[in-house]
Amino acid sequence: MQSLPGFRDFFPSDCARRNYITGTWRRVARSFGFAEYDGPTLEPLDLYRKKNSGGEILGQLFSFTDRGEREVALRPEMTPTVARMLIAKAREYRKPIKWFSIAPFFRYEKQQSGRLREFLQLNCDLVGDASPAADAEMLALLIETMRAFGLTAEDIVVRVSDRGAWMDFLAQQGVKDEAQAREALSVIDKLEREPRETLEKKLSALGLTLSAVEEFIKSARPAFFEKLSGNLEARGLEDFCELDLRIVRGLAYYTGLVFEVFDRRQSRRALAGGGRFDRLLSDLSDGKVDLPAIGFGLGDVVLGDLLEDLPATKARMAAAIAAAQAVDIYVVVADESRRTEALGVVQLLRALGRSVDYPLGADKVGRQFKDADASGARYALVVGAEWPAMKLKDLKARTESDLPQESLADWAGSLQTPAP
Ligand code: HAM
Repeated sequence: MQSLPGFRDFFPSDCARRNYITGTWRRVARSFGFAEYDGPTLEPLDLYRKKNSGGEILGQLFSFTDRGEREVALRPEMTPTVARMLIAKAREYRKPIKWFSIAPFFRYEKQQSGRLREFLQLNCDLVGDASPAADAEMLALLIETMRAFGLTAEDIVVRVSDRGAWMDFLAQQGVKDEAQAREALSVIDKLEREPRETLEKKLSALGLTLSAVEEFIKSARPAFFEKLSGNLEARGLEDFCELDLRIVRGLAYYTGLVFEVFDRRQSRRALAGGGRFDRLLSDLSDGKVDLPAIGFGLGDVVLGDLLEDLPATKARMAAAIAAAQAVDIYVVVADESRRTEALGVVQLLRALGRSVDYPLGADKVGRQFKDADASGARYALVVGAEWPAMKLKDLKARTESDLPQESLADWAGSLQTPAP
């Protein structure tokens, strides 16, 4: 039997790849002082039905009625969950609150490249600060996360836009009603994906023209962009960011700055997306908790495809995966009568924090060395007739030395631990 379409099996090498991605995400988020949190995979359907997510996601929910007659859904995104958690406990945390999570999400998407039905996202959100400095900090976090995989400003671009500027433009054009404005934004969100006639038709139903929309995209320059660029320039990250008003985002709760990350060379789906959602907490708590917020979600699927495609990022990922799967030391049992001593060596090395493999039964020494190579071990330690002396082979440098039993702990302690 096969797995369901859009769902993945993770064989050990896939798990190592996933851990490389999530480990890198976690390391960079921690370096910006973000704290990790998580929420439930299953949520009440109402959490998404209200105005929270809105847009396309509502039509993509994995939802059902549970045995207790509750309407529930597998979470399609983190933002409504984190909003609920923040509303419950925001008072207890110093502001700004800086939280991240790494978790699986579920959307019943059409089969297409870069889109699955279960995928991972890094979500980072900064709550309680509406300043441009907070906006820049979040964009810097997103850019540094991409850079940690070896991606450069030639590989990716963060396209930055402003929903506030769009709302002003729409009001000027006579689209005053909020529901209509949302509808207009969802049409504009598809400018690059739908034929012009379809767009013209949809826009004219809202009293808009494609040419007015295109003119706005070409000429408008939101005031915040200079500040943002200046802040990113101070960090040497300005080349990663471009103003692009074509970005409006498909989700309903965004209020101001919005952004998406794209591959510069290929027209793939977005790698990440986010923005300000300054009213969501207030809307969800009937005004009781009113905190501005900005955040983003970065998926593992398009990012993983891009990392595989570029030679430099592919090599870096392959090295990390190989290192993660390798053991440090392979203990060769060259003389079966010394198996008890060999087990003692294995036990000691493991207690000292080394990863160790060895043959479970009697085997030819040549075969054991093949297994040692396959295990990725840097060292083979041969326990045999010379006990309590052992032979230590550096399988990479292809050197050999004697290691007396009493020096074992010192030697194991001197091994370099690779950075996680
Ligand atoms: P989103 O744009 O819906 O935003 O998703 C963010 C990223 O998740 C996408 O750019 C994409 O890489 C990945 N993604 C989304 N759907 C799929 C899928 N079906 N298969 C693979 N990858 C996918 C949000 O989810 C917002 N909640 C982000 C956010 C956090 N905004 C504020 N805080």
